[in-house]
Amino acid sequence: MKSATLLSLLQDRRVHSGEALARALGVSRTAIWKQIRRAQAEGVEIRTIRGQGYQLVSTLDLLVADDILASLAPELRNRIDLTVLSDVDSTNAEAARQLKAGQSSLPVVIADGQTEGRGRRGRNWASPRGENLYLSLGLTVQGGFSALEGLSLLLGVAVSRALATLGATGIGLKWPNDLFADNKKFGGILVEIQGELQEGDVQVIAGIGINVHMTQVSGVDQPWVGLAGQWPDIQWSRNELAAAIVTQVLGVVPEFEDQGFQAFCDEWQAQDIFFGKDLMARGGDLQGQGCGIDASGNYQVMTAQGLVPVRAGDISLRVQS
Ligand code: BTN
Repeated sequence: MKSATLLSLLQDRRVHSGEALARALGVSRTAIWKQIRRAQAEGVEIRTIRGQGYQLVSTLDLLVADDILASLAPELRNRIDLTVLSDVDSTNAEAARQLKAGQSSLPVVIADGQTEGRGRRGRNWASPRGENLYLSLGLTVQGGFSALEGLSLLLGVAVSRALATLGATGIGLKWPNDLFADNKKFGGILVEIQGELQEGDVQVIAGIGINVHMTQVSGVDQPWVGLAGQWPDIQWSRNELAAAIVTQVLGVVPEFEDQGFQAFCDEWQAQDIFFGKDLMARGGDLQGQGCGIDASGNYQVMTAQGLVPVRAGDISLRVQS
């Protein structure tokens, strides 16, 4: 976490002497020099000016807990327990640990990087440091497991709303909950059920990963983009993005508990990238045209035999190539 503190001091892009930085952080000048070298090795461009000090050249978008909290309405700020970490295995795993330990009833975990980021279907989620948003909320949803139908689709709607508040429009949702722009994936959602509490409340971890500044990564096998690449005119701040997502997610949950997913069906449907496309699933056994979702959030495919509903998690749908 130390280099994040150093970088936050350099973020004003002025020249800072090694001595002033050392004093501000309560460490030696040698320690500052080492942190500068480490940040440079991680790809942050810092100019060393002989006899004067250090100056940040790269544009940084640091995660700062206080900035996230400041962007939340006071009521939300007081409800959540926010943890911002420099590195973690997976924010979903950390939120689950916090829920289990009874540490918090509404944990929100955000990390600068993940060492074991999880994707859907047991895949890995590329999670380089300093570039993207990795955010997990530990939610308690009323109504038992049956109430969870449509929850993961609901989260897609909430994230899409959050992005719209920041100026990003034209977002596509790929069933069940991938976030797309111009046929490229920029975000994914992983919902993990934690367990049922007394009185039918269910605890779930809602993990949201959004590519923000990332321009290169290895091991991703589908077209992808980052927010900054897709909407270059917006000044993307991970802190503002995190606050907008938390605001929207916590805003939709009560309505969802009350009315179920059907209250959000039309909004989801308006962003459906599968609609009218030739689709296939079950290795080609199921083929037909995308017809949108039903009130429970199943995807409907019009096959030669009629309308077949596909449940989230059962099979993956693909556009026929
Ligand atoms: C997908 O496969 O599309 C879902 C990806 C979900 C990734 C996010 S990043 C934050 C949270 N922590 C994880 O380990 N996974 C989710």
